[in-house]
Amino acid sequence: MSRFLIISNRLPVQISISENDIGVEPSVGGLATGMMSVSKSFNSLWIGWSGVDFNELTNSQVKKVNSALKKEKCVSVNLTQEEVELYYEGFSNKTIWPLFHYFNQFVEYEDEQWQAYKRVNQKFADVIAENMEGVDKIWIHDYHLLLLPQMIKEKFPDVTIGFFLHIPFPSYELFRILPWRNEIIQGMLGADLLGFHTFDYERHFMSAVRRLLGYDININEIHLPKRIVKVDNFPMGIDYDKFQDAALDSQKRSVRDKSEIRKELERYYLLYPETKFVLSIDRLDYTKGLINRLEAFEYFLENYPEYRNKITLVLLAVPSRIGVDQYQQMKSEVDEIVGRINGTYSSINRNPIWYFYRSLPFENLVDLYNYCEIALITPIRDGMNLVAKEFIASKTDGRGVLILSEMAGASKEMSEALIINPNDRAQIAEAIKRAIEMPLDEQIERNTVLQKRLKRYNIEKWATDFLNSLDKVLQNEQQYLAK
Ligand code: ADP
Ligand code: G6P
Repeated sequence: MSRFLIISNRLPVQISISENDIGVEPSVGGLATGMMSVSKSFNSLWIGWSGVDFNELTNSQVKKVNSALKKEKCVSVNLTQEEVELYYEGFSNKTIWPLFHYFNQFVEYEDEQWQAYKRVNQKFADVIAENMEGVDKIWIHDYHLLLLPQMIKEKFPDVTIGFFLHIPFPSYELFRILPWRNEIIQGMLGADLLGFHTFDYERHFMSAVRRLLGYDININEIHLPKRIVKVDNFPMGIDYDKFQDAALDSQKRSVRDKSEIRKELERYYLLYPETKFVLSIDRLDYTKGLINRLEAFEYFLENYPEYRNKITLVLLAVPSRIGVDQYQQMKSEVDEIVGRINGTYSSINRNPIWYFYRSLPFENLVDLYNYCEIALITPIRDGMNLVAKEFIASKTDGRGVLILSEMAGASKEMSEALIINPNDRAQIAEAIKRAIEMPLDEQIERNTVLQKRLKRYNIEKWATDFLNSLDKVLQNEQQYLAK
């Protein structure tokens, strides 16, 4: 039976090591949660970085980590500390991530980091080569591995390669700034199928190919001298049933054993029965618009004093990429603004913001989706944003209001949400007021449409559409070459 490889920088599981024990937890991030749900139904092996520094481990720990990964059908690409600094924190997260999210002011252009990026992409290619037995299809993911499709295609021309970008592809005027733009596009074109979350990202990519390399383009096919590359958009969905079922479980569980979060929420509910909970969940990342979200919330408290005692913002910021300066600075800024708002608007028995800086177990995440009436999701740029979709899927009784940035890829499929410009504080504040006051039947009407769409185009459909499309590319290519 043929095997199929999934490749991404980060594996879907994180390893934690204590003296006697090896722990395995799910990784945070849309790529990991999304692909983890589908990979279980494939005969696949997942190759990526486990986040562990193998040089720091004893031989017996290395064995334990590898066997824990094997159980999860994962193989590790081991990165040295220098590679983590130059390839992961460096070129991936100080050059591509900010540039592709339109944060031009943060972009670094360091040749040393670029060289490390090339080396690590080659390292991935070498680990893949060791695991190619019986493999006829490879699905590569995300911006850390843009050169990998070409490296694999050169070595294994008969293997079918799909590539999916989980972040935006920026407009040509931004992309052209990159000194290594041609190599990057050529690297991506090693794939047979390139997938993006939205039509806009696909269009930007096509424009870059046309202007930089001058290849012949026919609607969504790029004609290379000996191959065709298909480009298409596949908006990533969620494991709808998982969130719906977990929300139902959360409701049942809350009657039996109460989680800490539930207890806290009830305590607030008892104090202020009409309190509305506004949920904010993201990795602590400058693209997620946490600062503008907090400023908009402050503006709301200032300008709508009648709601001051009736609203609580539950702010869950998951630590991310703490080795990169901007992430550390942002943590300090968030701490400061939360302190300022709570300092100004707290009363003896309540804080307007309830702030967690940590990751939470899945059950608690679902508790939050379940109990908060409003979700406030305001990224400055976001490839998709799965949290918005997970919140709606968890609203089993149809109650709840989603406020969503027009800069998130998800907004293209979720026009029934209250769509806002993340830079417009007054508009966000107005949307919070509208969400609080929205009649129940209107909430249910909007959410019913959203839920139907999310259920139909779920993560499984996303993955099968991508893989079916990958199979079709080969058929088209054979016809094209036969002409
Ligand atoms: P990104 O991929 O940029 O982090 P997304 O919103 O697309 O943003 O995906 C985030 C994913 O991480 C979601 O699937 C969400 O369920 C998961 N997640 C976010 N916060 C936590 C958390 N505290 N604990 C566990 N999973 C989380
Ligand atoms: C985004 C990226 C993923 C990445 C995730 C978490 O979702 O698209 O590729 O894995 O963020 O970031 P990290 O740097 O911790 O892997």
